[in-house]
Amino acid sequence: MSKSADYKPVTVPMIRQMKGTTPIVCLTAYTTPMAKLLDAHVDLMLVGDSLGMVLYGMDSTLPVTLDMMILHGQAVARGAQRACVVVDLPFGTYQESPAQAFRSAARVMKETGAAAVKLEGGSEMADTVRYLVQRGIPVLGHVGLMPQSVHNYGGFSARGRVAGEADRIMGDPVAIAEAGAFAMVVEGTIEILARAITARVPVPTIGIGGSPACDGQILVTDDMLGLFPNVPKFVKRYAELGNDAAQAVSAYAEDVRARRFPGPEHCYGSIKRA
Ligand code: KIV
Repeated sequence: MSKSADYKPVTVPMIRQMKGTTPIVCLTAYTTPMAKLLDAHVDLMLVGDSLGMVLYGMDSTLPVTLDMMILHGQAVARGAQRACVVVDLPFGTYQESPAQAFRSAARVMKETGAAAVKLEGGSEMADTVRYLVQRGIPVLGHVGLMPQSVHNYGGFSARGRVAGEADRIMGDPVAIAEAGAFAMVVEGTIEILARAITARVPVPTIGIGGSPACDGQILVTDDMLGLFPNVPKFVKRYAELGNDAAQAVSAYAEDVRARRFPGPEHCYGSIKRA
């Protein structure tokens, strides 16, 4: 979709400047219709690799491929006129070296038209973040609970509870902010730590299961709409669309079985969906 003149797009520098001023509204989007629905309301739309679990029924985000992220990135970019679109780099497409990360990120930027990429990691990824930023690719960091490292943690539990862990985790946001990340997702950290990170780094923190003290918040849209059944404890559900959909499908099935089905006079003719 070409960008309309009615919208002033939210840019990466605009997100960066929201630190400490306006709370940044972020949600995930994986498809064009969802991007259209969110566009007027969010500052940043993340094409998260959570799509592997939410859309494809995978057990973790690890099997998600770069091609999947690019296809969904293209779909979201078609629906977003205003929000800043960021696409996740999936597991195995950036950890090997800064050069590998550049190749993956450059494909995402060229083929989707996204404004930035997101990657998980702290101090160990700082050189990679610097390499990308110096070559024109804005990076959204992701620290705290990093789902691509699920096998290192043995699960998806909150970070910062174990003695000494908070100090180690604190080094990560500082390192990637110094490397040039324009903002960072802070996932699943205890509140006191998310608050301390937000006070310490000069770029916006975007919390998920972190703290209201973060500069912005993100949720998986399907979780907050009640479309995905197994949601983390911190998710506030703003709707129960899964239940509504189940009721609608059941009503449809009853209509079909009772032969209460619209005849040709109710047909829509030619439909333009785009
Ligand atoms: O993949 C994703 O959707 C994410 C958000 C949950 C922050 O990384």
